[in-house]
Amino acid sequence: MDYIVNGGRRLTGEIAVYGAKNCALALLGATVLTEQEFVLRNCPQIVDVENMLKLLGAMGKKTVRFNDVVRVSGGLTTTSAPYSLATLLRGSALILGSTVAKYREIDLPLPGGCAIGARPMDIHLDGLEALGIEVSCNERGVSCRGEPKGARYNLRFASVGATENLLCACVLAKGQSVLTNCATEPEVVALEQLLVKMGANLQGVGTSTVVIDGVESLRGVEFDVIPDRIVAATYLSAAVATLGDVTVTNCNPTHLKAFLDTLSPHFFVEQTESAIHIVAERQPQGYGSITTAPYPLFPTDMQSLMLSLAAFSNGGSTTICEKLFENRLKHNADELNKMGASVTVDGDYAVVSGKKLHSACVASHDLRGGAGLVIAALNADGRSVVSGVEHINRGYSRLAENLRTLGADIVNSD
Ligand code: EPZ
Repeated sequence: MDYIVNGGRRLTGEIAVYGAKNCALALLGATVLTEQEFVLRNCPQIVDVENMLKLLGAMGKKTVRFNDVVRVSGGLTTTSAPYSLATLLRGSALILGSTVAKYREIDLPLPGGCAIGARPMDIHLDGLEALGIEVSCNERGVSCRGEPKGARYNLRFASVGATENLLCACVLAKGQSVLTNCATEPEVVALEQLLVKMGANLQGVGTSTVVIDGVESLRGVEFDVIPDRIVAATYLSAAVATLGDVTVTNCNPTHLKAFLDTLSPHFFVEQTESAIHIVAERQPQGYGSITTAPYPLFPTDMQSLMLSLAAFSNGGSTTICEKLFENRLKHNADELNKMGASVTVDGDYAVVSGKKLHSACVASHDLRGGAGLVIAALNADGRSVVSGVEHINRGYSRLAENLRTLGADIVNSD
């Protein structure tokens, strides 16, 4: 399916953000830690979350959705994740730690690489081995056996998913675990807060060193999925693309500080506790130098948005360095250049000279890249076609409909 975008229309108005995909997936993974009922509110209605619910359901969990409230209860009837479901999304890896913690075993097909990079899981597996788990890998995936025992483990890189899996593996482990160099993304912090609410004995919430004393069991709780900071950044980017005046509500501005710090020298940006108002009067002459890194620095998931903003800036130069995923620059650079952009990529480095873009047919090949191309199409005068909407739907709920409420002319092709 494609988006048909008639660009050049100024966006104005107010748009609310919904729950974060990357928070919902981590919290759903943690539901395996208890058979008691969970109630997750503000749970986004997007493809990856629905596929995660299908995966949990296929393994025995009872899952029910009513609008943005999801209830999960019951125990697993199998610890072997169905290949057809587990390989639908990267997030399926987030049942690894919780399943080992609760059931002492799992057979999980590894979804392997994806468009943005190889995305190995060596840190996840090395950490589980440090906890005394027997890990074996074959061409179909990974098998884990054994009861986690408290241990010290330093993550060689502050991996979001590895942190989340190891947190879940430690909360029921016998003895004390000390995890160092943990990721501190808001979605990781939300998981830590959930685990504490479930009864985990966890110190160091939100820091890179987490100390966990294992407990016998955990309870089901009610919990709100945090707002999606990437979706908030997407709506702000749409306002910049069209020199609009937009207020993004139901968000947490502190979660996208690095992105806002990049925009605020060039536009009117004001924020409250749960909203961001931006007015863009003119495109800047480039955005200087941006390098992606773990939180709280510039997030890789906002890199493709930034690449588009730089592409249609008013002359000037921007350099963007993508340090997390080895294949997250080139594809969008090539697509933006079809729209008249001047993006040169050398390895993990892109140099962008701002240009006036023209409409074109462009193709998304990953979720965040697709959103970046929609932003460029909103800026370019004329009719653009953005294909690969199925990638975008993995992480965005009704993106075209939401942008239309701000005045965008964007429709799904039939
Ligand atoms: C999470 O992926 C997010 N996904 C990603 O969002 C996000 O881009 C990423 O964190 C970084 O913020 C979910 O939360 C479901 P990492 P994850 O482990 O956990 C390397 C989106 O579009 N690495 O922090 O897979 C890895 O190759 C997605 O919403 C290892 O080498 O990211 C990468 O270079 C895309 N070995 C870097 O670390 C490992 O065992 C960051 O990966 C694990 C990771």
